[in-house]
Amino acid sequence: MNIFEALRESHERQRELIKALLATRGDTEERRELYQELKTELLAHERAEERHLYAVIMQEDIGVEPARHAIAEHHEIDELVETLDDTEFDNPGWLAQARTLGDKVEHHLEEEEQKFFQLSGKALTETQKKELATAYLEDYREAKAG
Ligand SMILES: [Fe+2]
Ligand SMILES: [Fe+2]
Repeated sequence: MNIFEALRESHERQRELIKALLATRGDTEERRELYQELKTELLAHERAEERHLYAVIMQEDIGVEPARHAIAEHHEIDELVETLDDTEFDNPGWLAQARTLGDKVEHHLEEEEQKFFQLSGKALTETQKKELATAYLEDYREAKAG
C-alpha cells in the first residue's frame, strides 16, 4: 500500500460517516455515536496526514503553497467541529451545522484527491510512498485507539 491509498481509505470512511450522520434525526444514541466516530476519524487522519504527507511535501518548492492551503482547511474543519461540539444534539439547527461540516470535508477530500495527491505523487519515489504509508498508518491507528 502507498501513502495515497492509505489516505483514501480514511477519506472513504469519513464520507460514510458523514452520510450516516446526516441521516440521523434528533438527539439519539446513533447520532451521538456517529458524531464521536467522525470526530475521531477526522482528527486522527488530519494529524497523521500533516505529519506524513504535508510536512514532507512542504520541503519541495512546488509543495509549499498547496500544503499551506490544505492545512488551513484542516483548521477550518476543526473550527466547524468545535461549533458543533457547542451545539446541543437536539438543537433544531444541529443538522444544518453538521451539513456545513460535511460539505467542507467533502470539498477538502475532493481537492486533495484531485489536486494535491497528483502533485505530491510526482515529487515522491515509490519507496517513499510505501514508507510514508507505514508511518502514517502507525500514527493514525494510534490516534484512533486514543
Ligand atoms: Fe486533509
Ligand atoms: Fe486527507
